[in-house]
Amino acid sequence: EKVILAYSGGLDTTVIIPWLKENYDYDVVCVCIDVGQGNELDGLEERAKASGAVKLYIENVVEEFVDDFVIPCVKAGAVYENKYLLGTSMARPVIAKRLVEIARLENATAICHGATGKGNDQVRFELGIKALAPDLKIIAPWRIWDISSREEEIEYCKEHGIHLPFSADNSYSRDRNLWHISHEGLELEDPANAPNYDHLLVLGVSPEKAPEDGEYITLSFEKGIPTALNGEAMSASNIIGQLNTLGGKHGVGIVDIVENRVVGMKSRGVYETPGGTILMEAHTALEELILDRDTLAYKKGIGDKFADVVYEGKWFTPLREALQAFVDSTQEFVTGEVKLKLYKGNIIKQGTTSPYSLYNESIASFTTGELYNHKDAEGFINLFGLSLKVRAMKQGTK
Ligand code: ARG
Ligand code: SIN
Repeated sequence: EKVILAYSGGLDTTVIIPWLKENYDYDVVCVCIDVGQGNELDGLEERAKASGAVKLYIENVVEEFVDDFVIPCVKAGAVYENKYLLGTSMARPVIAKRLVEIARLENATAICHGATGKGNDQVRFELGIKALAPDLKIIAPWRIWDISSREEEIEYCKEHGIHLPFSADNSYSRDRNLWHISHEGLELEDPANAPNYDHLLVLGVSPEKAPEDGEYITLSFEKGIPTALNGEAMSASNIIGQLNTLGGKHGVGIVDIVENRVVGMKSRGVYETPGGTILMEAHTALEELILDRDTLAYKKGIGDKFADVVYEGKWFTPLREALQAFVDSTQEFVTGEVKLKLYKGNIIKQGTTSPYSLYNESIASFTTGELYNHKDAEGFINLFGLSLKVRAMKQGTK
């Protein structure tokens, strides 16, 4: 029998290979899914095989990740607990999906992942797998074995004849993809501590270290989807990649949060989402111009719900699809350009334009235009305020 292992090449997933063989007698098929984490994939196959795997797949799903998972979150304005742009959350379902596809290809009967028993990621992987392949067995070694430290993992590998170079590295717990990198652990575990940004940051610099000169950019959108940067048409994934470089350089998109995990605990993390932060702000700025007041207000609630659903790992559900359908129907006219200045951690608006802008200068201007008559306001306020007035007359003024 075969098991599919979500494999990164690191110690935490390598040690699982001998453990699966010893405890289940499985043939272990490793799958490394590239969501833009940018780590070295050379030599990964030798590494997996030297650890006892029968095969390694390297699957690049970056385009699918961006088009089908990231962009829907951008359109929805999905932000968890007012701060977290969901970088890890939105990648888990695309990983689960590809794991299931490989499981079918290989006729495997189980899928194994290396998420711990304390986090959100186990929930996301497993809800994804259950929704797409209810027949597959799921194995989460971190909830089963009693290995509890890096030293024990290295020891276990050695005992099983695996002699790979693993550093004694005791760094942050990180998760990276094209959209973001997360950092947890070390000094961050106590919310009283300031983050050690010099040690921690990977995608950019802190605002203090950003250049004195800001930088101007223009983003173009069509129906809510980013289509060009500085007038040059390119794929959304390309735009995110370039914005990461620009945003990182100017200290944009660093978030320090104590968040509520699905499993009940609070956890403290730092996220770097340089490109994503710029993209989300630009998209929101364009919507200001284009969406009517009622739709904008209602969509805010839908976006918050969308964020919760994604955070909780409920991507493959009818609710996520229905929320996404609502969001998509609001994006029909979200087309236009947004100019921004990046400066020491700030994103400063420099102007928005759209052929579908609802902003009408002659209405909004202080000098009277023909569509708006000041005199109409009096009758409007009389009716708009009627219920307040009646209540005050009958029940008093406090
Ligand atoms: N707390 C974030 C989330 O739940 C980040 C999780 C990072 N995962 C990791 N395996 N390091 O989405
Ligand atoms: C983990 O526990 O595997 C990482 C953190 C999380 O999933 O929230």
